[in-house]
Amino acid sequence: MSKPQMIQTDLDSVLTAQEIAEIDAELGHVPYKSGAAIDALKIVQAKRGWVSDECLQAIARRLEMSAEELEGVATFYNLIYRRPVGEKVILFCDSVSCWICGCDDIKEKISAALGVDYGETTADNQYTLLPVPCLGACDRAPVMMVGDDLVTHIDEAQVKALFGDAKTGGDQ
Ligand code: FES
Repeated sequence: MSKPQMIQTDLDSVLTAQEIAEIDAELGHVPYKSGAAIDALKIVQAKRGWVSDECLQAIARRLEMSAEELEGVATFYNLIYRRPVGEKVILFCDSVSCWICGCDDIKEKISAALGVDYGETTADNQYTLLPVPCLGACDRAPVMMVGDDLVTHIDEAQVKALFGDAKTGGDQ
């Protein structure tokens, strides 16, 4: 899909003054502008919840990268969201230790409670469910992040306590 052509003045007005100031501060810590790519993406995502095509192009211009190069960074780094997400993102570990400890069954219970599958957001915009590789807490598997909180040894009772039984339905 071809991206819309943007004139320079449009790109200049996409990022806020604060976002630009924070990105420029990161540029002071790296030898090449492209070295600030992940931090710049995180700065914009922290303010907006996700990184739109428009923002990605504006960041790329600030870092003197092509939009395609920056897209490659954003795609590789799976904590940069290129689509809108809910208030909290559930990063559900589906790697081997969690799989051995029954994460598939837990994931089904979460999906049933929230009415969403991987990549979907609940209709009330509270949660987006995403699979992630190992979260580095294998000794406490199954594991997930709910927003900023690490949830370990997940079992059915925890799923019920966190998400209840109500199906809210996916919207993506
Ligand atoms: S495999 Fe799930 S935290 Fe390591």
